[in-house]
Amino acid sequence: MTNELFLRRLRDNTELKSFDCVNSELNDFLFSDAKKHQEECIAQTYLIVSNEEILAYWCYLNDKISVSDMNGNRESFIKRIASRLGREIKDKEYESFPAVKIGRIAITAKYQRSKDIRLGTYIINYTKQLFVSNNRTGCRFITVDAFREAIPFYLKNGFEFISSRDRKSETRQMYCDLLQL
Ligand SMILES: CC(C)(COP(=O)(O)OP(=O)(O)OC[C@H]1O[C@@H](n2cnc3c(N)ncnc32)[C@H](O)[C@@H]1OP(=O)(O)O)[C@@H](O)C(=O)NCCC(=O)NCCS
Repeated sequence: MTNELFLRRLRDNTELKSFDCVNSELNDFLFSDAKKHQEECIAQTYLIVSNEEILAYWCYLNDKISVSDMNGNRESFIKRIASRLGREIKDKEYESFPAVKIGRIAITAKYQRSKDIRLGTYIINYTKQLFVSNNRTGCRFITVDAFREAIPFYLKNGFEFISSRDRKSETRQMYCDLLQL
C-alpha cells in the first residue's frame, strides 16, 4: 500500500467514490442510506479513504446492554465489571450498561484480512480510543450484531457473546469492554 490514508467523518457533501465489500446490503447502505441516517441522527458514518478510493466505512449509534438480556452470561458479566470497577456491584444496581453500537462495518474486498494493514482491527482500536478519551457521556461497551462469517474477527478483537439465545440466528449480539485496551 503506497497511498496515504485519511479518516473522514461522512458529511452531506462527501463524495462517495466506488466501494465494494462484496456484501450488496452493506454496499447499498453506504450509497443509499448513510447520509439519510446521518440527517435523521440515527447513525454517524466514518470512512477510511485514499485519494482514489474508499477503503472502509463503519457507523456508530447509541446502544445499551441490558442485564436481563444476558441470561447465562449475567453472573460472569457482573463479576467482570465489578473487578474492573474495583468494587462490588449490588444486585439490581444496574439494569443496563451504556454502549456504542458499530451498526455496520465493511472493508473493501481487496483489503479484507490484509496482514499488512488490518483495517478492521484498526477501526475497533480507534473506536476504543474515541469513546474512552474525552467521553461526553458514559459509554462502557462496544456492541455489534455480528454476521456469522465475521464472528472470528470479533473474537480475535476481544468481543464476547452477549447471550446464547441467538446461537442459531443469522447474526449474533456481541460486546467488548471499551476499557480493555
Ligand atoms: C469482517 C471485516 C470487517 C474484518 O476486517 P479486516 O480488516 O478484514 O480484519 P483484520 O485484517 O483486522 O483481521 C483481524 C483478524 O481477524 C481475522 N478475520 C477477519 N475477518 C475474518 C473472517 N471473515 N473469518 C475469519 N477470520 C477473520 C483475520 O484473519 C485476522 O486474524 P489474525 O490476527 O489471526 O491474522 C472485513 O473482513 C469485512 O468487511 N468483511 C465483509 C463485510 C462484513 O462481514 N462485515 C461485518 C459485518 S458484522
